[in-house]
Amino acid sequence: MRRLILFLPLILFIHCKQQPASPTGLVTEKAMVVSAREEASQIGVAIMEKGGNAFDAMVATELALAVAYPYAGNLGGGGFMVYRKKNGDLGGLDYREKAPLGAHKDMYLDSLGNVIPDMSTLGATAVGVPGTVAGVMEVHKKFGSLPLSEILQPVINLAKKGVVVTQKQAERLKSYKEAFIEVNGDSTKFAAYFKEGDTIKYPELASTLQKILDNGRDGFYKGEVAQKLAAFIQESGGFITEEDLAKYEAKWRDPIVFDYKDIKIISMSPPSSGGVTINQIFKMMEPYHLSDFGHNSAKTIQLFTEASRRAYADRNYFLGDPDFVDIPLDRLLDDTYLQTRMADFSFDKATPSSEVSYGEVEIVESAETTHYSIVDSEGNAVSATTTLNGGYGSKLYAAELGFFLNNEMDDFSAKPGVPNMFGLVGAEANSIAPEKRMLSSMTPTIVEKDGELYMVVGTPGGSTIITAVAQTILNVYEFNLSMQEAVNAPRFHHQWLPDVVMFEEEGFSNTLKTELESKGYKILEGRTPVIGKVDAIRVLPNGKLEGGADKRGDDTAVGF
Ligand code: DON
Repeated sequence: MRRLILFLPLILFIHCKQQPASPTGLVTEKAMVVSAREEASQIGVAIMEKGGNAFDAMVATELALAVAYPYAGNLGGGGFMVYRKKNGDLGGLDYREKAPLGAHKDMYLDSLGNVIPDMSTLGATAVGVPGTVAGVMEVHKKFGSLPLSEILQPVINLAKKGVVVTQKQAERLKSYKEAFIEVNGDSTKFAAYFKEGDTIKYPELASTLQKILDNGRDGFYKGEVAQKLAAFIQESGGFITEEDLAKYEAKWRDPIVFDYKDIKIISMSPPSSGGVTINQIFKMMEPYHLSDFGHNSAKTIQLFTEASRRAYADRNYFLGDPDFVDIPLDRLLDDTYLQTRMADFSFDKATPSSEVSYGEVEIVESAETTHYSIVDSEGNAVSATTTLNGGYGSKLYAAELGFFLNNEMDDFSAKPGVPNMFGLVGAEANSIAPEKRMLSSMTPTIVEKDGELYMVVGTPGGSTIITAVAQTILNVYEFNLSMQEAVNAPRFHHQWLPDVVMFEEEGFSNTLKTELESKGYKILEGRTPVIGKVDAIRVLPNGKLEGGADKRGDDTAVGF
C-alpha cells in the first residue's frame, strides 16, 4: 500500500500523459468543415445540415473556394483528395493538372539548353490542363447523395452576391497587382485597387458554374466554355487545345497507407509525393521515443530534419507520374531500407546533404495552395488539397469565364538539377511529356487510431507541405497538443536541397538555433517564411470534433 501511495504521482503522471489534450479549437457535435475562408466552410456545412454527406460538402467547399479564395481555390487548377468512409473504406482521387498534348521535355529551354525565366511560372505558357471540375464531378458521381443543383446553387449565389475582401486578401491583391497587369493588361478586373471590406462580384464565374450545373463535366471540358478557354489560352501564347480539355480525366488511386506506432496514416499516392515522403519520414523516426525528446526540442528537430533530408532526396530522384514512370515503391517504403538510410545518423552532428546526394540550390519564395478537411455526421471524412500552384497561379485571368489559370507546369523538372519555384530539384522521373502529370507535394491525409477516425489534416506550402503535415500529426500524437494548438505551433522545414533548416519567425529560441548550428546545421537566416497553413479536424474521445483552423490565414472552422 505504501508503495502504491509512493508511486501514485508517477502512475497518475503516466496516465495523464496518455489522456488526449483538451480541445482549444472549435468543438462541434457532429460535422465540420475547416477551410481557408469562412464562406466556403459555411457553404460546406450547410450542405451537410440539409442531409448531404462529406462528399457533397467537398464539391461545395471546393467550388466555393474558387469563388471566395481565388488566390488558390480554383476552376483553373487541380488537386488531390483522400477519403475514409464511415465503414473504413479508403480511397484517393487525383485531379491533378496534366501537360498538354503539345508539351515536350525541353519546352522551357532556350537554344542553349538554359531554362527560360518565367516561362513555366507566368502567363499562358505555364498553364497545365485543369483538373478541378473533373475531380468534383467524379466525387459527386461516385459518392454524392444530393442533386448537383442543391450543391452548386449556393456557390453560384455567392459568386453573384460577391465576396467581402479581408485585410489579408487586400494585401495580397495589392502585392500581385503589377503581375496581373503584366499578364492581362491594365484593363483587367484585378488592376483595380481593393481595400478591406470591398465586395468583389464574379458574374462571369457564376455563369461558368451554371454551365457546369447544366451539363456536368462537359459543361467545362466541352462546348462553349472549353472553346472559349482553349482559344483564350492560345491567343495568350499558351498550348492548351480543346482536345486537351476533352481528354482530361480525374483518376481514382489507392492511397499510401502505413502504420506509425499505433496510428494508421492514409495519404496521397503519386503523382503526389506527399504520401510516399511522409511515410518515409515517419518510418525513419519510428524507432525513437520522440515524445521523450520534447516538442520542437533540438533532438526532435534533428531527427525530423535528418529523416526529411533523406526522404526528399529520394522524392526528387524517384518520384513522378506513375502512369509514365516506374516508381520502386516497395523498395522506397521498405522498413529495412529506411532504417539503413538512417544508419549514418547521429545526434552529435548533422549529415551534410552533399553526402546524401549532390548539388547546390537556391531557395525561392513559396506561393499558394489551399487545403480543407471535412467530417460529416456519419463519420465519413474527406481531406482535400487544391491549387493553382503560385498565388493566383500563372496570374492569367480568363475574364470571360471568371477564373485564374494555374502555373502548374513549373512543378515538372524543366531541366534535371535546376530548381523550380520551391527550390526543388527534379530528375528524369519528373521530366515533361505530353499528358503527363507533374509531381506534387500535396499531402491530404487522414489518420486512424484503434481502427477509428482520429484526424483529417492537410496544408498548402509547396515543398513544405509534407513536413508541415507530418509535424501537425506528431504534435497531436507524440506531444499531446490539441488540434488547434498543433496547428498553431511553430514549424520548421528541411528538404535535402538546399541544405538549410528553415524556421518560422516565432517560437524557436536563439539558444536552440545556436545548439543546432554547433552540430553543423545550416540555419536559413534573413527570411522568416510561413511554413504551411494547416486546416485539420480531430475526433475527440467522446466523438465530438475539434477544428484546427490556421491562424496564419483567414482560415475558419464551422460545424454543428
Ligand atoms: O503540387 C504542389 O506541390 C504545388 N503545386 C503546391 C503549391 C503550393 O502549395 C503553394 N502554396 N504555398
